[in-house]
Amino acid sequence: MKQYILTLDLGTTSIRAMLFNKNSEICAMEQKEFTQFFPNPGWVEQDAEEIWKVTQTLVAGLLVNHKLDLDDVASIGITNQRETAVLWDKETGLPIYHAIVWQSTQTNEICEKLIEQGYEQMVKSKTGLPINSYFSASKIKWMFDHVEEAKKLADENKLLFGTIDTWILWKLTGNHATDYSNASRTMLYNIFEKKWDIELLQLFQIPESVLPEVKDTSGLFGVTNKEAFFQHEIPITALVGDQQASLYGHGCFDKGIVKNTYGTGCFMLMNTKQTPVISKSGLLTTIAWGMNGTIDYAIEGSIFVAGSAVQWLRDSLQMIQNAAESEQYAKQIENNNGVYLVPAFVGLGSPYWDQDAKGAILGLTRGSGKAEIVRATLESIAYQTRDVLEVMIQECECDLKELRVDGGAVMNELLMQFQSDILNVSIDVAKHQETTALGAAYLSGLASGFWASQEDILKYRQVQRQYQPQMNQKNREYYYEQWKKAVKTVMMFK
Ligand code: G3P
Repeated sequence: MKQYILTLDLGTTSIRAMLFNKNSEICAMEQKEFTQFFPNPGWVEQDAEEIWKVTQTLVAGLLVNHKLDLDDVASIGITNQRETAVLWDKETGLPIYHAIVWQSTQTNEICEKLIEQGYEQMVKSKTGLPINSYFSASKIKWMFDHVEEAKKLADENKLLFGTIDTWILWKLTGNHATDYSNASRTMLYNIFEKKWDIELLQLFQIPESVLPEVKDTSGLFGVTNKEAFFQHEIPITALVGDQQASLYGHGCFDKGIVKNTYGTGCFMLMNTKQTPVISKSGLLTTIAWGMNGTIDYAIEGSIFVAGSAVQWLRDSLQMIQNAAESEQYAKQIENNNGVYLVPAFVGLGSPYWDQDAKGAILGLTRGSGKAEIVRATLESIAYQTRDVLEVMIQECECDLKELRVDGGAVMNELLMQFQSDILNVSIDVAKHQETTALGAAYLSGLASGFWASQEDILKYRQVQRQYQPQMNQKNREYYYEQWKKAVKTVMMFK
């Protein structure tokens, strides 16, 4: 009897390899950060080869440090930072350029040109997405424009494109595929007709030959090659974008249940089942997952900077030594003392979509200090979440039943209480901090027969803590109004 599902969680700043048992408990975990390159202001790149090597090292860590016997693994689920684009030579197996990360703004100009030329409506009507450098399409085009060998290799049918799921799948199995959730973030995939869109490929001048096959999120993607995977052939039975994985891990199978993950950024999703909701106010329509021939859609608010603003406090300003310390400083004052921080470090995502916005701190006085700046940073995460949630409720025409949350920042009690206060909504913190990895494990385990059904896995859902709103309405609205003014100011400053 196989005892585990192995999840490879290929995040933006770190990679994790985790083992889950039948009770959906984590039995072992290995984790490692990897290099981020910032070659120019606003650019964010990674080395796809390093991502592959780190992935192998982590699995080796499970074998050595946790005495894992790979014969005990029923199947593998892969979940990943989405949109990040890799192009590689299929003969050498080497990337032709760094992976261009979802946060990178180096393709802003390409996108601006297309917006000026009036393509926004056409792109949105096919992909559910606004034209923005966040998505993969302009990143691929940029590589074709800047890397000499790209076109030649593509003409010789030797070039492949993938998001990180596809890249690692290819390394592990030699198969070139992705799933619906990841394809829906490329801005090349028609989410309504469920196919790569020829008109979009022409618009971005990308040859169809480089694109992976799109498959069900939960299903067989291939079997690991012995040479690439410690002499074992194990089925890979899920590929899923990390935010959709966390939606699944939270058990958000019905309309009206919303999840928010506080990671590098903040990503709020609601499952809208078989009905794609087209946003008029800056949310994304995306594919949650495809299973057994059925597609579930989701509506999403993507906030680019959340946890990474706390990292910025730590690494760039050196105001805190670690993320946990942010809570201690923020607690030194009773409220923000009028200070607001808009962390538009890579532009603003949902619902504003202003790729040129820059960050700012407003409301400083001579008495403002570390506590105010740290608190304003934490609060900005909560305000941005409200920006998104307000639109989501409006557009889905449904009551919010619950907000389920996960991610590193949910450990911060001050932030979670403030989040509940500013939203006036009760917040459920998942017992499983690793909801993303768990979601990928579920999707893999359902396909490999490790778990029997969705109902089967729902019984493992547990809430660790609930926060109830405590702030009065007058304060809530005052703070939020001030935040809106701060965002407006930032968007005017160009
Ligand atoms: O769309 C980007 C998102 O998938 C990144 O997630 O958790 O790696 O910050 P994370």
